[in-house]
Amino acid sequence: MRKSDKYIPALGREWLTPLYDPLIRWAIPEAKLKTRLVDQAHIEAGHRVLDLGCGTGTLAILVKQVCPQSGVGGLDGDPKILEIARGKAERARVRIAFDLGMAIELPYPDNIFDHVLSSFVLHHLTTENKARTFKEDYRVLQPGGQLRFLDLGRPHGAYAVLISRILRRFEETLDNLQGRLPDMIRDAGFHQVDEPERRTTVFGTISLYTGRKP
Ligand SMILES: C[S@@+](CC[C@H](N)C(=O)[O-])C[C@H]1O[C@@H](n2cnc3c(N)ncnc32)[C@H](O)[C@@H]1O
Repeated sequence: MRKSDKYIPALGREWLTPLYDPLIRWAIPEAKLKTRLVDQAHIEAGHRVLDLGCGTGTLAILVKQVCPQSGVGGLDGDPKILEIARGKAERARVRIAFDLGMAIELPYPDNIFDHVLSSFVLHHLTTENKARTFKEDYRVLQPGGQLRFLDLGRPHGAYAVLISRILRRFEETLDNLQGRLPDMIRDAGFHQVDEPERRTTVFGTISLYTGRKP
């Protein structure tokens, strides 16, 4: 595996992972952002949903709570964070299949999911791996299936522009900050690509991106 293909842990260093949930809750309106994402997905009973780069499983658990009759899976490259996710799901009394795997090579057959959801994962990937990930998302979605994710977007407003000057030094964040994600989603074959919402946070502009497999 090339160095660029290895996952970057949630907070950049493995020893910081146990702090991820409290830190993210403190830093951004996590519950609000994830609830909007799930509400807009209109997930129905029987739908199969993947939380890509699920981390501690917050989004996957929310999906299962909002639509208990859906089938929810979470995938992450980090075995330690998956252990946290499994514990949280157990305490929340929801059944979710958490799989170890890489976004660039999903361990699932073609056309299996109705929704691929994701939050704050794309800015962990190099340009090449973002393109590979979008192609994998497309492959595992059924025709008509939806991709929907939250991540750093093109900065809007003075504060976001200022923060972006620091963040844009990394290859993994540059595509986001240059507003290239919609074109990359289209290049993978998705239609109806949109950025229906954005919000300013301490990390700058967080955008919600959507696309549909024709
Ligand atoms: C910032 S955390 C976000 C976690 C979660 N989605 C959330 O919203 O709280 C990014 C997650 O992406 C995972 N990740 C990074 N690169 C990955 C890759 N190439 N394949 C799978 N997971 C990856 C990390 O292990 C981490 O759990």
